[in-house]
Amino acid sequence: MLPLILLSLQLANSLLPVSAVDNGLARTPPLGWNSWNRFQCDISEETILSAANSLVSTGLKDIGYEYVIIDDCWHADSRDPETNEPLPNPDTFPSGIKSLSDQIHSLGLKFGIYSDAGLYTCARRFGSLGYEEIDAKTYASWGVDYLKYDNCFNEGLSGNTSISYSRYTVVTMLAPKYRLTLERYEKMAKALNATGRPIVYAMCNWGEDHSWTWAGELANSWRMSGDIGDLFTGYHPWCPCTSLENCTNFGARCSVTRILDWAADIVPYSDPGGWADLDMLEVGNGNMTKDEYITHFSMWALVKSPLILGNDLANMSKDTLEIISNKEILAVNQDPLGIAASRVWQVSVEEGGDIQLWIGPLEHGATVVAVVNTSPTNATVSVPWTDILPYELTSEQPVHVFDLWQRADDAQWGLYLGSLGSSFSFSSTMKLRSHETKVYRLVPQASHAEGDQFRVQA
Ligand code: GAL
Repeated sequence: MLPLILLSLQLANSLLPVSAVDNGLARTPPLGWNSWNRFQCDISEETILSAANSLVSTGLKDIGYEYVIIDDCWHADSRDPETNEPLPNPDTFPSGIKSLSDQIHSLGLKFGIYSDAGLYTCARRFGSLGYEEIDAKTYASWGVDYLKYDNCFNEGLSGNTSISYSRYTVVTMLAPKYRLTLERYEKMAKALNATGRPIVYAMCNWGEDHSWTWAGELANSWRMSGDIGDLFTGYHPWCPCTSLENCTNFGARCSVTRILDWAADIVPYSDPGGWADLDMLEVGNGNMTKDEYITHFSMWALVKSPLILGNDLANMSKDTLEIISNKEILAVNQDPLGIAASRVWQVSVEEGGDIQLWIGPLEHGATVVAVVNTSPTNATVSVPWTDILPYELTSEQPVHVFDLWQRADDAQWGLYLGSLGSSFSFSSTMKLRSHETKVYRLVPQASHAEGDQFRVQA
């Protein structure tokens, strides 16, 4: 019996994905810009260079945004007929991708590109399925630092979700065809690693096959749903997901609050080097209010999603720049512990929507707390200390409270937990506008005294 068990274990191991993405990259969530949300296929080398230059001139590069990523539609009509190498569209990228990448590097930025684990990309350009090695090699020779890898036209090479999920079981061993998604993505992971160039691998299979349970072993980030839209809440018919379980097809216009709802269950799978990607940011694209964009940006940051800007950087408002430049929120996203905040509670509001409390641990015993109002009405919220105590805070320890959008100590919250006691509640002071989010950083006094790195002087 024992040899049989051992054999089974060996077989199981041989079917497990290797840590193909063990590339040491993305120890904190990637920060950058991508062309898709704002420009879709209307791109050229000017569009990409303009975004790169804007990252520098606006100061966004200096606070950490580093990847400039071309999404779909950079491609020529076909590959090189002799070598099969991928070629760019000669009309829109006449200088070639290498030259573009060189210019981006010379600005002190990194360069990313897009392809698809299928015959075609979602906009029907050639995909990489069957061409993984030549594509990875070409990308490396172009100086690519980041690959977003999509899932359209995959020839049905995907698995049944529940069975992919149970890949550690005998069922999976006997039915390797259910590993098809994993294998497609693993192939590119290995091809990228084989180039020897450090390339962040951003997997984009929209959460198909419960990918959050295994994608962290293959990729530096993994999209978990259909595409985001520039809308805060509600059910747009184009969004392919009705729930996390049924969120597997290509589709668009998923709202911020719905993506956040699904994310609540799966962000615990994130880890340094492998992050749940809630999709690129819509901040600045015009269809949400300032409060809604602040909620979107704050919560993507708290759950450690990559923060990939998706607006027109060359033409943005003061408000947009202010939101995406919030260094304290970025510091939460980039905190070295790399632990996503979790949703502690969610209470429905009569008029629709809800109030949510999110909490996450940060380095040096600090804690981030977010209170989110997704409802159409203003709300007064009571959050007892007892709801936020489990993270590192003891009832005796003085705690400083920083409001990361007001950028000041929040006097209303009181400064000293010890003197206020654990029954303290700030119900009378926590007022949230409709769709507003407040974010607080709670810092034990000892660490605070050592130097406060998160406050920006006015
Ligand atoms: C989708 C992907 C989008 C964008 C688009 C390009 O599948 O989720 O983010 O890349 O394809 O066609």
